[in-house]
Amino acid sequence: VRAHPAFFCEGEQLDPQEFFALFAAERRPDPYPHYRRWRERFPVAELAERMFAVSGFAEATQVLRDPAFGHPEPEYLDPADRLPDQPVDESGRVVRAFLSLNPPDHTRLRRLVAKAFTPRMVEQLTPRIEEITASLIDGVRGEFDLMTSLAKPLPVEVIAELLGVPLDDRERFAEWSHALARALDPPFLQRPETVEPAVRARQSFVGYFRELADRRRREPGDDLLSALVAVSDAGDVLSEGELLVTLTLLLIAGHETTTNLIGNGVLALLRHPDGLRPAAEAPDRVVEEVLRHDSPVQLTARTALRDTVLGEVAVPAGSQAIVLIGAANRDPSAGPDPESFDPSRAPGRHLAFGQGIHFCLGAPLARLEGRIVFRELARRLPELRAAGDPKWTATTTLRGLATLPVASGR
Ligand code: HEM
Repeated sequence: VRAHPAFFCEGEQLDPQEFFALFAAERRPDPYPHYRRWRERFPVAELAERMFAVSGFAEATQVLRDPAFGHPEPEYLDPADRLPDQPVDESGRVVRAFLSLNPPDHTRLRRLVAKAFTPRMVEQLTPRIEEITASLIDGVRGEFDLMTSLAKPLPVEVIAELLGVPLDDRERFAEWSHALARALDPPFLQRPETVEPAVRARQSFVGYFRELADRRRREPGDDLLSALVAVSDAGDVLSEGELLVTLTLLLIAGHETTTNLIGNGVLALLRHPDGLRPAAEAPDRVVEEVLRHDSPVQLTARTALRDTVLGEVAVPAGSQAIVLIGAANRDPSAGPDPESFDPSRAPGRHLAFGQGIHFCLGAPLARLEGRIVFRELARRLPELRAAGDPKWTATTTLRGLATLPVASGR
């Protein structure tokens, strides 16, 4: 990133290095006081030419909702440059998942998936999620790592079941998904050693789903994958390439994010004077408060598709806007006493699932899993307590724990 020579934001000089330091490893356990100081000074900051960081709640909401911001239009790659197994359309264009597309392609693809992935379908998963949760919790004794025993396996089981992925394949699946999640950080935070495994994981997913889609074509099941295969075969609404990248998106989007909701949530509850009690009384409030207070997705980005104004700052077409979801959620303009974790408060406004046309399609599923896990933990392990220091993962976009040592109390 090329630093802007001397940029003044509302009279204060901005040092772009200060921005990058927000994400330093030593600040990972609690970046929030640093976010607060940054947001108070620079709700919109120009870090470099055509590169903005947005941490104010109103301004972040604007970026996510305003059609002046979107994703860069798909570039046409030289077929020689594309990765092996990366789906392309007839004109050689790399097929991207709808998370990173603009209307009208985004609208068409999201609608198709939303048709198969309905709130009713999610509700129907309730007994299975309860069953998986209960069996994972009942399997623990003494001291254990909450991430390994519960937060990691539950979401992958659920999403695999929803998609109709055979049980035996789920372990490989979790590995690829983890490799891809580690590479989600923006270029200025990217660690080079994460790139190669992510490329391989993407290839593995596409190859895997291609085979599984063929199998479901021959023997359809009662799952989301079969429903999407049927749509893809029905005509030109969903191409084979689009099907494969959509399946990969659903898998990644629904996996580590939910793991982090569970991990960040249990940590916050164990540090709270009431412990797990609020989770027994109002698990839905706990879920919303965790999402607001320690968002599993901390960053996203958009590009200005035309000249526009953000808050009071002129933003030229082609500029990148990095949205600091975790900082915006604690803006006092979004709700009172934002720094404290209060699991009894009435749910307020937050951007943990995004806003506007890209609002998280899996939010009902994530909320359902969160409610069930927090409630079942409070019921089945009321004596649960911390048993050592938690360790954070090295990623920033996805904020979560690598390990959370706890004692079960039995
Ligand atoms: C989009 C967060 C769970 C599927 C998003 C976005 C956020 C988000 C912030 C918007 C990104 C942007 O606008 O740039 C979360 C969190 C979750 C979670 C915090 C868990 C706590 C899930 C689950 C699924 C899912 C369980 C599916 C199984 C999606 C999809 C999109 C999306 C498909 C793209 C929507 C679009 O572009 O129209 N999620 N998500 N997410 N999420 Fe989630």
